[in-house]
Amino acid sequence: MKLWSGELWLSYELALRPLTLVFWGILGARALDNGLARTPTMGWLHWERFVCNLDCQEEPDSCISEQLFMQMAELMVSDGWKDAGYEYLCIDDCWMAPERDSQGRLQADPKRFPGGIRHLANYVHSKGLKLGIYADVGNKTCAGFPGSFGYYDIDAQTFADWGVDLLKFDGCYCDSVKSLVNGYKYMSLALNRTGRSIVYSCEWPLYLRPFHKPNYTDIQQYCNHWRNFDDVYDSWGSIKNILSWTTTNQKEIVDVAGPGGWNDPDMLVIGNFGLSWDQQVTQMALWAIMAAPLLMSNDLRQISPQAKALLQDKDVIAINQDPLGKQGYYLRTENSIEVWERPLSNLSWAVAVRNLKEIGGPCSYTIKVASLGLGVACNPGCFVTQLLPQKIKLGFHEWTSTLKTQINPSGTVLLRLEQA
Ligand code: GLA
Repeated sequence: MKLWSGELWLSYELALRPLTLVFWGILGARALDNGLARTPTMGWLHWERFVCNLDCQEEPDSCISEQLFMQMAELMVSDGWKDAGYEYLCIDDCWMAPERDSQGRLQADPKRFPGGIRHLANYVHSKGLKLGIYADVGNKTCAGFPGSFGYYDIDAQTFADWGVDLLKFDGCYCDSVKSLVNGYKYMSLALNRTGRSIVYSCEWPLYLRPFHKPNYTDIQQYCNHWRNFDDVYDSWGSIKNILSWTTTNQKEIVDVAGPGGWNDPDMLVIGNFGLSWDQQVTQMALWAIMAAPLLMSNDLRQISPQAKALLQDKDVIAINQDPLGKQGYYLRTENSIEVWERPLSNLSWAVAVRNLKEIGGPCSYTIKVASLGLGVACNPGCFVTQLLPQKIKLGFHEWTSTLKTQINPSGTVLLRLEQA
């Protein structure tokens, strides 16, 4: 494609910029109005790393117990996670006793959570953190514990009484599409009626998609974030699948995200076993571009300094948490190099350049800055900083100039462009 001359483009852009902003404003998500998740939720969620380990006899340090969450709460504060923005400490499946109590309320497993959830919530709050919990819209949770179907009001009130701050609501064992959709909506309203601020994390589109095209306008009016795709695993294949699902479906999901409602590509698995360093960089960079909730699932008691520094990288987190709240998107692929970009506040842009090759050494890739950010990211000039894999100030660039990057196989270079 032939590019317009700089001058012509500049006058076109200056004339249209206010219109573009109005257009975004109109399209902009009118998300669940509970005042929460104005930027993507940040925290820790036990599932990917600790799954459904019930065996506290044999594995006391990794079973799902109050001890695990108390230890993570301490570390979130003492090791800088809270200061970096990770605030929600979230329990996933397998916290419950197999039966409800005599009044129909959910109860925590008495052996593994002897103090109960209210006690754990108090502890977590005393550390300045928030507590997340898990339940299921159907008859059972995915791991077979009591489901909330028929108990939505009781469960919402129980969570509020306990002082819970986030609910992850799963979608297993629902007997019809209708009860899935109605259940997700009902629980949103039930949480609201408790009067407590509870972030509502859904899996509605993931469970609906095999039967029905999800209606995202509906979903974002009820949920603060929603899972679209399969569970993340501690493997590169899993991260690649999530990214390729996102690029394939971006027309449907990107515009609907905004303050109060986010697409959730699932947990960060950085700091575990399955990803190389470059692959961890790719997950962090792309989760920032996608405005994804940053819910780590790892063992904060044993995490490498390198993974910790990546997860706590202030500049990358600032991209993820950018107040404009526009989700980034995939732009193009050239010679196995994929380019993504995300509009940020103050007319800045984030750009991720990902090397899809898994053979050979680092690849060079040169970008025309005029091709970024709808042609306006660096118009008439910008300051460029590479944030990942290392922070390097790349200095002033003109609209007509090019940017040289070098990207490791399966790695990503994350850049920030600020208007000069
Ligand atoms: C589903 C969810 C996961 C996790 C498990 C728990 O698979 O998608 O994120 O919550 O259930 O059983």
